[in-house]
Amino acid sequence: MALTSHCRTEFYDLFIKRSITNSSCFLHSLFRRNFSTKLFAATMASSTQGKVPAVSSAPKCLLKPIDVPNKLLMGPGPSNCPPRVLAAGALPMLGHLHPEFTKIMDEVKEGIQYLFQTKNEWTFAISGTGHAAMEASVVNLLEPDDVILVCQNGIWGQRLADMVDRNGSTVKKLVRPYGEVFTLEEIEKGLQEHKPSVVFVTYGESSAGTAQPLEGLGDLCHKYNALLLVDSVAILGGRPLFMDAWNIDVLYSGSQKVIGAPPATSPISFSLKAREKIASRKTRIRSYYFDCNELANYWACDQGPRRYHHTGMVTSVYGLREGLARLAEEGLEKSWKDHKDCSELLYQGLEKLGLELLVKNKEIRNPCVTTIKVPPGINWKDVTDYAMKNYRVEIAGGLGDLAGKTWRIGIMGYNCRPENVQLVLRVLEEALESIKK
Ligand SMILES: Cc1ncc(COP(=O)(O)O)c(C=O)c1O
Repeated sequence: MALTSHCRTEFYDLFIKRSITNSSCFLHSLFRRNFSTKLFAATMASSTQGKVPAVSSAPKCLLKPIDVPNKLLMGPGPSNCPPRVLAAGALPMLGHLHPEFTKIMDEVKEGIQYLFQTKNEWTFAISGTGHAAMEASVVNLLEPDDVILVCQNGIWGQRLADMVDRNGSTVKKLVRPYGEVFTLEEIEKGLQEHKPSVVFVTYGESSAGTAQPLEGLGDLCHKYNALLLVDSVAILGGRPLFMDAWNIDVLYSGSQKVIGAPPATSPISFSLKAREKIASRKTRIRSYYFDCNELANYWACDQGPRRYHHTGMVTSVYGLREGLARLAEEGLEKSWKDHKDCSELLYQGLEKLGLELLVKNKEIRNPCVTTIKVPPGINWKDVTDYAMKNYRVEIAGGLGDLAGKTWRIGIMGYNCRPENVQLVLRVLEEALESIKK
C-alpha cells in the first residue's frame, strides 16, 4: 500500500522526534496510530527509493520450540551434566570483566589447580573445547625449529602431530598399536634419538581405552632437556593425576567429561619450565587467540591489571565452576574410587556377556572409557541404534583404526553410578539378543 505524502511526513516527524527520545515509546505510538508492520516496511522501502532488498522469510524451524530429548550419555563424552551445572547455564549474563564474573574466574582457577594437583600460577581455562587446548599447547610451546616426540597409540597423538605440522615444527613419532602404552625405556630411546624439546603423551586415550603410566616420565624428559605435554581430556577426575609431583610441564583437559560441564571450556596449566620456554621464544606465537601470555593476563595469572583479550565464555564458565565445585565437594579421592569401582563393575558385566575388552591389562585401562571388541558377525551399529532407539542410551562406536571394530562405553562424572552401569549392560545384552534372533 502506498503512503500519501502527508502520511509520510507525519511518519518521519514522529520517527525522528521519538527515536531521539525513546524508541519504545515510538513503537507504542505507531501501534496507537494503527500503522501496521506492513505499512512500516513499505515506508522504509519507499524512503530509500526501493534500494532495500527483499527480506527472505524467517526459517520455519526456528518458529517452533527447541527440541532436546533426555538421553543417558554413556559414550566417551559429552556426559550428562549435573542439574547444578545446567542451572548455572541459566544464570544472568555478566560482563566478561565485571568483578562478580572475574571472581568466578578466580574460583575456576582454584578448582583447576585442585583437579590438576598443581600450584602453577599459569592455570586457567581456554575458551574452546579440548582441541582448542591442544592447539594452544602446540602454538605456545613450539617454534618452527622445535622437534616434538609424539607418542601415538590412538587418534589423539595423530591429531596433535597434525597440529604440530601445521605450526611448522617437526614431529617425530613413537607408535604403538591401539590398546598398548609406552614404557619409559621406549620413550628414553626416542629422547636419545630425536632430541626433542617436548614429549607428548595421552594419559587417557579415548579411542583406544588406555591409561598411559606417567610416573617417572616428567623426570625422564627433564633429564634430556625436554618438556612433558600431557592430554588428560578423557580421564581427568577419573584416575589419580598429580601435575606437580609427576613433573608435567603442560597439562590440558576438557569440561564435558568427568567435570560434567558443557563442551566449551578447557582447563590448562603451565609449569615454570614451560613458561621459561615460552618467554625465551625467538619467534612470535602464531595464534593471537591462543597466546597464553594474553590469556594468563585475562585470568589474572600475572601482575595485571586484567585486559580485554576476547570475550570470556561467561555462562560456560559458570557451568565449569559448578562442575569443579561438585568435584571439590565430593573430593578427588572419592571420584577416583567411584570411577574405579564402576569400571570394575562394567568389566565383570562385559565378561559375563562373553564380550572381550581391547585392553588386556587391567592396570592400563582408562576407567572413563572402555573399548569392547565387536564380536564377529555383529554389526556394531545395530547395537548402538538399538540402545538409542529403545532406551535413549548412548553407546559409541570405535574411532580411528578401531572404527567398526569396537564399542566404547564411557563412565564419567555425574554418570558414574552403578545403576547406570547396570542399565548399559542390560541394554547391551538385550541388543545382542535381539540382533541374533
Ligand atoms: C583424549 C582426548 N583428547 C582431546 C579431545 C578433544 O576434545 P574436544 O572434542 O572437546 O575438542 C578428546 C575428545 O574426546 C579426547 O578424548
